[in-house]
Parts: sequence; C-alpha cells; structure tokens
Amino acid sequence: MNSKSEKNIKFKIQRFNPEKDKQYISTYTVPVRVGTTILDILLYVKDNLDGTLTFRHQCRMGQCGSCGVILNGKPMLACYTQVLHLGVDTIKIEPLTNLPVIKDLVVNFDSFFKKHAKIEPILIKAEDTFKKITEFIQIPSDLKKYWDKAICIKCSLCNASCPAEIDPKFLGPSSLTANYRFILDTRDDGNNKRLKNSSESIWLCTSCNSCTINCPKEIDCSTALTEQRSLIIEDGILFPKTVKEALDSAFKYYNPIRMPSRKRKDWSINLNIKDLSIVKETRVLYFVGCLSSYDDRNKEIAKCITKIFRKMEVDFATLGNDEWCCGDHILRLGEKGLFEMLAEHNVSMFKKYTFESIVTTSPHCYYTFVNDKPYTDLEMKVKHYSQFIAEALKKGKLKLNREIKKKVTYHDPCFLGKRSNIYDEPREILRAVPGLEFIEMERSRENSFCCGGGGGRVWTEEADPEKRPSVNRVREAIKLGVKIIATACPFCITTLEDAIKTIDCEDLIKVMDIAEIIAESIEYL
Ligand code: SF4
Ligand code: SF4
Ligand code: FES
Repeated sequence: MNSKSEKNIKFKIQRFNPEKDKQYISTYTVPVRVGTTILDILLYVKDNLDGTLTFRHQCRMGQCGSCGVILNGKPMLACYTQVLHLGVDTIKIEPLTNLPVIKDLVVNFDSFFKKHAKIEPILIKAEDTFKKITEFIQIPSDLKKYWDKAICIKCSLCNASCPAEIDPKFLGPSSLTANYRFILDTRDDGNNKRLKNSSESIWLCTSCNSCTINCPKEIDCSTALTEQRSLIIEDGILFPKTVKEALDSAFKYYNPIRMPSRKRKDWSINLNIKDLSIVKETRVLYFVGCLSSYDDRNKEIAKCITKIFRKMEVDFATLGNDEWCCGDHILRLGEKGLFEMLAEHNVSMFKKYTFESIVTTSPHCYYTFVNDKPYTDLEMKVKHYSQFIAEALKKGKLKLNREIKKKVTYHDPCFLGKRSNIYDEPREILRAVPGLEFIEMERSRENSFCCGGGGGRVWTEEADPEKRPSVNRVREAIKLGVKIIATACPFCITTLEDAIKTIDCEDLIKVMDIAEIIAESIEYL
C-alpha cells in the first residue's frame, strides 16, 4: 500500500444524539491513501477528531456483517469499501435505512433478526430424526443447489435498499432468500411450512433487483424470491386473490387486465397504423404492451410514440390484435408455464414477419425480450423507445422545437435502470428539451427507489397508502420542488399517478412519460 496520502476527501456523516433526540451532520476533511476504507475513515475520525462518533464494526474483513452504512445513497460495507474506488470528492455516510437508528451510524437489528427467526433458519425435521445418532448425508451436487445462498452475512444491505420493506409485513429479501435456501436443502423436510410462511408477504416484492445489486456476497435474492413464488404456485398453496385474477386473465385474455384480446388494437383506431398481419414487413416492429393498449391513460403514451415515429419518418407497424402480453410480470409472479405460453405465441409472430428491430413502450417487455428464453433464442435487435429517441436526437433525426419551461425530475423505472442499465438515454432526452430544467432526485440511477409496480405488484396492490413505495417516491419528488415527475414506463405512470391521487396533491405535481414530453416539444407553435 502506498503510504503517501493521495487526496483530501470531505466526509459528511449523519449523526443522531438519542439523549437530545437531535439529528445533525458532522463534516470532516480527511487525507486518504490508496487502500483506505470507509471504516479506516470512521476510526480516524473517532481517534483524532471526534471521540463521540458511534458506529459498529468487528471483523474488518467483510464477514461479520456489522459495518453496513449508506454511502452516497448506496448501502455498502464500511470495511469492504475503499474510499478512492468511489471516485468522488465528497462522501455522505448515513446509517442503514429500514431499521431504527440507535445512535449515529448504529442501527437496531432486532426487527431484521426477528424476521429471520420467523422463517426458522434451522433444519426442519421430525423430532425422532434428531434422536437417532446418524448423519444427514448430502452429495456435492445437492449442496451446490443452495450453497450460494448460504453465505449470507446478515448485513441487511439488501433490506436497506428494498422498497417493499416499508411494509413491516414483508419478510424481506434476506429472510426470504434464507427460506429458499432451506427449501433447496435436501436435508430439510419443511417445504410446505416454509412456502406457506413466505406466501403471506412474498407478493409485495416488486422484482426491482435492488437487493441483488447491493449484496456484498453477490447473492441473487431477487431471483430466489421469484423461484419461491413459482413453487408456491406449483404447489397450489393459497396466494392472494389479486394474483390469481391477474394470472387467470393472462391465461384467458392474453393480458393481465381482463380485456378482450380482440380489442387490443382499438387504441389505434383512426391513427392509420400498419398491422403486420396485413403488411407482413416493416423496419420497426412497435411492441405496444398491455397497459398502453388497454388503459386509457397509458394509451396516450402509445399515441405519442407513434407521433414521434411519424415525425422521424420511421417505417413501423404493430402486431395489432395478435400481440399478446410479453409475460414479464407473469414470469416474475412465478407462473413459468403461463409465461411460456404467452412468449411462444409472440415468438411465433416474430418469426412470421420480417422486421429489423423491435421498439417497446415498456421496460418490462424490453427486459424479457433481451433476457428470457424463448425470446433470446431469436437474437432480435430490441430497443426501449427511450434508446430509440436518444439515438435519433444524437444523429439529428429528431428536432425539438417547442420550449417546455418546467422543473422536471426523472424517476428511473427499475426494469430500465437497475435491471437493464439504461440510465443515460432518458436523461439525455430530457436535457435536450428546450427550456426544461432537469433536477435529479436524491435517490437516482442504481440507488433509485422503486415505484412499487414491478414483479406483478401493480396488479395486486393492497397495501395501505403509507406502505406503498409510490407514495414515498412522490413525496420525495414534491420536496425537490419540481412540477413534473418524468418517467419511461407505463407501470410507473400508473403507480405514481395513483399515489398523487391518494395523497391528494394533484395541484402540486404531475407525472408525464418522456414520450409525452417529446411529443409536446416536437409540436410547432
Ligand atoms: S427485488 Fe426489490 S422489492 Fe423484491 S426483495 Fe429485492 S429489493 Fe425488495
Ligand atoms: S443477502 Fe446479501 S445483502 Fe442481504 S443480508 Fe445477506 S449478505 Fe447482506
Ligand atoms: S467489520 Fe465485519 S463486515 Fe465489516
């Protein structure tokens, strides 16, 4: 390790004095060397600058799970994070979220461990089995099934980033993944009990992927929860009526919203949009998606996208009534068979016609086309419409004429951002709009807070308003003083608009899709 100090970094540490019930921020500028960790900084401050600073640590090697903090909005282990790797000159250090703060950076883990206790993190077997002196044999391939989930250090970084955690009923990504680890363990006989346990709250997960992204041990909690849902559905264990209704509808009508498939293309009546069943060939296949086909509010977004296509003179067509739900929400809800049915139909349509690329309205359609079989077998060129528009703006194929003099923030849809790494294009589009003042939310990009609509939750929302992620997100935007929350996903539009109505703040703020903003900005005065 280089002994020379490399640079001075400013640390803003969130403090809490429980005796005075006072929150404040302490700022220190500390010389940092190559290899200096956040924990080194906290120890330096305590030893040299302020002996009252309180934080937790033990192993100093990423094993005990006690030193989790939030660094510039991202949950991370203090001992495992090198300061210079963060690549910034100012670092805000806060206590982990979703747990009560005891003092400064020390949080109370009681509720976290109570949730772990609820899933019974020990082998469940008949009592007699334990009385015999015998080994529970397990072959390496059986161990391999759950080994990657058994290395959890109970640091709660996943829970700190989880939007569903605002509802205390939710068992949380860490406990639910541990539950799945025991389900996969061939020595455990408690599957039925475990699945019943998790089925009470697992539907609150939005598949946002934050838990997976933030786990220092690279445990894929998000997939573990989806796989667990699959088992719940396969085993016919009781699950919420709303989930059942969405799945039944997707089976019967090929969309989760109980709308007849013969009405799917009605949104485009009078728009003279080409139907691939007639033209057979096009440059861009526009995949509209369920909400933009059927939901009145979201139909407007599909109309704006087609208006932008026309302005750019793009040759495009849709599958008309032959388009079925892409199946993303169905797959995340765990209904793999139904997903396959929907996907195989769409794949048969994609094979039937000639096109260069697919452009989707929804990040969910985009994500499943790019990541899930059988779609991936086709190796199609897929773009979310925000990528398509950003590219057109860069190449000068689209000009924005009309000023929109508004303060606008951007809410990252999880399936576009955290799952697909598309963060820049929507921002480039907004920054290109004349007159528009773009203000970043505090929780943005990979630290963005989910709207609560993904993973099928948009169809199944039953939580009280205060326990809905969307309400939390709208409040965050209002604090910024913006007039518009821009986003790029029909599900975010739905959940955020519902939240605005729920908390009765329609006069303060509104939600617009980026496509609507662009459509407004290409209009001539
Ligand atoms: S995917 Fe998102 S909502 Fe689901 S458990 Fe993980 S962080 Fe929570
Ligand atoms: S799953 Fe990962 S992030 Fe969550 S508690 Fe375990 S080690 Fe920490
Ligand atoms: S001090 Fe043990 S994980 Fe950081």
